[in-house]
Amino acid sequence: MGKIVAREEMAQGTIILNEIDAPRISRKAKPGQFVILQADETGERIPLTMADTNPEKGTITIIYMVIGKSTTRFKELMVGDEYYALIGPLGKPTHIENVGKVVCVGGGTGIAVLHPITRALKEAGNEVTTILGSRTYDLLIMEEKMKAASTTLNICTDDGSHGHHGFVTDVLKDVLEKNDIDLVVAIGPIPMMKFCSLITKEKNIKTLVSLNPIMVDGTGMCGCCRVTVGNETKFACVDGPEFDGHKVNFDELAKRLASYLEDEKLSLEAYEK
Ligand code: FES
Repeated sequence: MGKIVAREEMAQGTIILNEIDAPRISRKAKPGQFVILQADETGERIPLTMADTNPEKGTITIIYMVIGKSTTRFKELMVGDEYYALIGPLGKPTHIENVGKVVCVGGGTGIAVLHPITRALKEAGNEVTTILGSRTYDLLIMEEKMKAASTTLNICTDDGSHGHHGFVTDVLKDVLEKNDIDLVVAIGPIPMMKFCSLITKEKNIKTLVSLNPIMVDGTGMCGCCRVTVGNETKFACVDGPEFDGHKVNFDELAKRLASYLEDEKLSLEAYEK
């Protein structure tokens, strides 16, 4: 378990896809759940929500952005190499039901997390409008897969290189103006999830977001992944990773995620020397 069977570099090599041999996890995993991976014995434990599973082949697919020492170390792992540790499936699965009209909003590697959820919502009979955003078109991932998983697909780029020139929130507002939407699922960078949630809160539309705080054990023991939701402390690894976007304290989460930025920078510099 943990051997990489396929690998792809996406978004100009800044985002990597790994299909990993994990028969037991692939059979048990449900949309919205995550795994924790470690490249080597002393490596950091990185939580990643699965972008896909293939129970017949016994594999799971994860997609990560290369941003620090640990993901730089992950990037060095090629087909045939094995992760030192792989645990999962962890977290609560997404509650999938036919609610009617759903909007799925994704940005960055959040699109990978959104993929199995979008597909399951469509398979459950929902009409799914998907809105994906990236800085520029070259950095957009999984366009074809998301097209297949959705009823309608909209692309937004900050620089106007493809689709709507602007943010996912512009298109979200437009879709909400023209349709009666029953559920919004927004997964991506914290500001994106925060502003999508603010828009839907005004219209009182149920909104799910998937949070990715720093994690250590992934089993509710260490408290590292704590987030504030509706003024209550929750552990994203066991209570989430999905929460009601109208109740999440996004500013606190952003602050906690930034706590180790300086150390992460130093660690990457030392590793690259
Ligand atoms: Fe330790 Fe969630 S990662 S409690």
